[in-house]
Amino acid sequence: MEQHMADKVPTAVYGAGRIKLCQGDFLNAVREVESESVDMVFTDPPFELTSGGMKSGKLVYPGNEVFRNCGFCTKNIGFGTWIPEVYRVMKNERYFYVMSNDRNIFSIHKSCIDSGFRFCELLVMDKKMTVPSTYYPKRAEFILMYRKGKCRKSHFLGSTVMEARLPRGKEKRHPTEKPVSMIEHLIRCSTLENELCLDPFMGSCPAGEACIRTGRRFIGVEIEQKWFAAAQDRITALLHE
Ligand SMILES: C[S@@+](CC[C@H](N)C(=O)[O-])C[C@H]1O[C@@H](n2cnc3c(N)ncnc32)[C@H](O)[C@@H]1O
Repeated sequence: MEQHMADKVPTAVYGAGRIKLCQGDFLNAVREVESESVDMVFTDPPFELTSGGMKSGKLVYPGNEVFRNCGFCTKNIGFGTWIPEVYRVMKNERYFYVMSNDRNIFSIHKSCIDSGFRFCELLVMDKKMTVPSTYYPKRAEFILMYRKGKCRKSHFLGSTVMEARLPRGKEKRHPTEKPVSMIEHLIRCSTLENELCLDPFMGSCPAGEACIRTGRRFIGVEIEQKWFAAAQDRITALLHE
């Protein structure tokens, strides 16, 4: 692994430059990404958690496993600030996937449309477990899918509902970790081998793992040292498998 400073954003580079992990604020890191250079963006962005399902500050999984909301810092990065940058760096005829809970869908959608994206699909991630809520127990998270420019011809396999087993217990590296298999599926449906994917808020980097498993290149950004280290550990372990 080569470690260097790229204009103040420390970047760890793996696999002869195919995988780049940047530690810092996405808005700084993205300045070094050329316009119209990225083939797909997948991200699970930071946002404030509201009380629905989190009233006691803990989530209870089946089997009484408890996840305390240790959380992560949002650093006040609003959707209207970073989504236009995602639009700038993406090539035309490419797809942007952004995860959301039920509360943030509307603001994310507005920022995407304001930035120039066209709405494609609302995908549902069925977590196969429920989280307590004031109303109906929640079982889904959402993935909003957009395109920049025209539609790219592709084989969209499966359906708009994706069953996903979330990492838990000892396998869990990040409080809101997403399943690699689901991201892998989106990457395979939307890109070709060797194309470049970006995750502006990579956390423990399941998107980077999905890129390695599918032969795509990857750039990920994470602001918190703890999660950046978790991302590095994941990628290092994978490349030594
Ligand atoms: C919802 S989590 C992503 C979790 C990831 N999908 C996973 O499976 O591990 C969002 C991440 O964004 C990071 N973050 C918050 N503000 C950021 C910023 N301004 N720039 C880059 N990363 C940021 C947080 O530290 C957090 O790890």
